[in-house]
Amino acid sequence: MSGVRAVSATNRMDTMRRDVLAGLSASPKTLPSKYFYDEEGSALFDRITELDAYYPTRTERGIMEMHIREMADAVGQDVVLIEYGSGSSDKTRLLLDALPNLTSYIPIDISAEHLERTVQELQEAYPNLVINPVAADYTKPLVIPDDPVRRRKRVVYFPGSTIGNFKPEGARQFLKQISAVIGMGGGLLLGVDRKKERSVLELAYNDPEGVTAAFNLNLLVRLNRELGADFDLRAFSHNAFYDEEQGRIEMHLVSACDQAVCLGEHLFTFHDGESIHTENSYKYDVADAVDLAATADLELVRDWTDAKEWFSVLYFACAKRL
Ligand code: AVI
Repeated sequence: MSGVRAVSATNRMDTMRRDVLAGLSASPKTLPSKYFYDEEGSALFDRITELDAYYPTRTERGIMEMHIREMADAVGQDVVLIEYGSGSSDKTRLLLDALPNLTSYIPIDISAEHLERTVQELQEAYPNLVINPVAADYTKPLVIPDDPVRRRKRVVYFPGSTIGNFKPEGARQFLKQISAVIGMGGGLLLGVDRKKERSVLELAYNDPEGVTAAFNLNLLVRLNRELGADFDLRAFSHNAFYDEEQGRIEMHLVSACDQAVCLGEHLFTFHDGESIHTENSYKYDVADAVDLAATADLELVRDWTDAKEWFSVLYFACAKRL
């Protein structure tokens, strides 16, 4: 295994400071959801995926367990498997077990620490697997390390309905980047969270244990620690709701009073009830996802769902000529 390739820490901090200043200067205020995932945020997200209220992870896993053979047939043997936002690569193990002749596995994650640990665990479990981890922001154009034998089929695995965290235009651009990475004949195995009853959706983002609230608030903890901001954590609260018209869950951090927050030489004022929009989580019907993917030359080959049709796993082939 080669070491985790990371962009320089200074570059990352500069970009984060720029993104945060831009978001807090906007009206309404926003913060990019990708900054949730520091060490603590990644651990909190792992806890979210185990909550009773948060159905997507276990539902997707159930679909994978039920149909893994068909998925492996669609993916094919002897391919390079590239996972975007690999996290703890939990569901990936099902694929790795079903694809013993994989050429290599390339997990990509923004959290270098999380990636390092996951790769170590995977390498112990799959000693013969060639793993080439990439610590990077996969929403930006990426250089994928070449497999030693060029021209293997590339398949991107993007589970967890993370595609829902992009706005539709961002999702289209992102899918186009994936098409460029996999090329003609390459594949995309994509997890999408489906539209469903408001009560189910809202409970998933307002769990009674308060883990999602802690996950949301941890963003401010991170800005205090890494950018020297002085957010008072007791003066902000978590709010998540389903906007049916937009087909998305919105997460916000709401100011409990009129207040000002310093970030370096910048001062940001908040009025009582004003919020920072921290995340969108779009929900897609299969037809919506197929239309979205078509704009990136991705054609649906197979799809699998659960009994309640709460979640879908879709396999697309790239029809793009390079
Ligand atoms: C990573 N992503 C798919 C999660 C979601 O459901 O949109 C992030 C999350 N936010 C709150 N809970 C989970």
